[in-house]
Amino acid sequence: MSKTPKKHTLPPGFVWGTGTSAYQVEGAWDQGGKGESIWDRFSHTPGKIKNGDTGDIACDHYHRFGQDIVLAKQLNLNSYRFSIAWPRVQPDGRGEFNSIGLDFYDRVIDCLLAKGITPFITLYHWDLPQHLEERGGWTNRETGLLFAQYTAKVVDRYSDRVKFWTTFNEPWCTSFLGYQAGVFAPGLKDEKKSAQVAHNLLLAHGLASQAARRAARQPIQVGIVLNLSPTEPLRPDNEEDRTLAEEGWRRDCGSYLDPLIAGTYPQSVIDKIGDFEKEDLKIINQKLDFLGINFYMRNVVSKLAKVHPIVGAQYTAMDWEVHPQSLRLLLNRISKDYNKPVLYVTENGAAFEDKLDTSGNISDALREQYIREHVQQCALAIEDGVDLRGYFAWSLMDNFEWAEGYSKRFGLIYVDYATQKRTIKQSGHWFARLAAANAIEM
Ligand code: FCB
Repeated sequence: MSKTPKKHTLPPGFVWGTGTSAYQVEGAWDQGGKGESIWDRFSHTPGKIKNGDTGDIACDHYHRFGQDIVLAKQLNLNSYRFSIAWPRVQPDGRGEFNSIGLDFYDRVIDCLLAKGITPFITLYHWDLPQHLEERGGWTNRETGLLFAQYTAKVVDRYSDRVKFWTTFNEPWCTSFLGYQAGVFAPGLKDEKKSAQVAHNLLLAHGLASQAARRAARQPIQVGIVLNLSPTEPLRPDNEEDRTLAEEGWRRDCGSYLDPLIAGTYPQSVIDKIGDFEKEDLKIINQKLDFLGINFYMRNVVSKLAKVHPIVGAQYTAMDWEVHPQSLRLLLNRISKDYNKPVLYVTENGAAFEDKLDTSGNISDALREQYIREHVQQCALAIEDGVDLRGYFAWSLMDNFEWAEGYSKRFGLIYVDYATQKRTIKQSGHWFARLAAANAIEM
């Protein structure tokens, strides 16, 4: 007997958005007075990116943003999350600002507002000015001070129209993947530096939050976006696995959430960073108007060596496990441990092999299912009492997927990179209906 689906309505004003980031979509890497970023340098270095892909052209969003925002409107989005390329507005990351770059984001913002779409700006989505990298990048505390100056400038310029600001996207990726694993720009493999960078990024978040609030032309909301995953035991009935999972949670989430929300570091982090100025924790611990969570998968741990692949589990084209229930668990745990912060799911989505069929459509049922099941978990978390205000699908359109280049597609909109033609996928049409209904069937 099949169950009749029950409709769960999301709270009024719930945010339905999609995200992109500057380097992944804009292209025009050396146009309009833009300076070089560490991702330009990294992708131009042979062997760093799959198939030698670069973000030089990407989705050419720099020239096509108007058309892309029309598509966003067709998806019934009420919000759009995008990032400002620091080197586009301040080529060297210090000194002179670039008026052509500043004008570009004025036009993006105005175009969104004209369509009734709320801009949700990320100040740093990984594309540090190369000039600053040559002075130590994020290992240098001064980069944080410069980041706060850049923040003050853009908040002063845009905050008459923009209310939602996030300082960093996924600082863990910068510090770990960029400075320890070496798979992201700037491509270093140095554990000590990586720990220093994690601290300096949090410090920069604190400094930039202060700068943003001082520069704001209206009351703004300032937050940060973290990639968080619950760590779960492979064998929930095994005590050793459960202990490992708890340690994993403390390490991965505690390292960021404790300093940001409680102004403390777990001892393990202090041991890694070594010396730092005690005042720093006070600066890091600014009021967070919201916390953005990027969720793609859980971590599974076990005393047994093998946790991958998990028998019976589904994996995406990134080889990431699909496990939607973990999102509800994560939202509840953060809500409980950190005193009910205002939350947004700022990224969630999946790469699968998309194929254009003979009539030019993309039937990406797996992506639709992935997003549906995660939104269902969001609705349940809200019913559990979590203060979740919005959901942003990653991504508006296929784009440059970092070390994977263009080989992985996450978009609700398909991009033919040879012609730059956009086609809304089946998942996009479905998402448009979801956003319009503000309700999900379960
Ligand atoms: C996140 C990034 C985002 C995108 C997704 C798939 O880590 O923030 O830019 O690449 O992964």
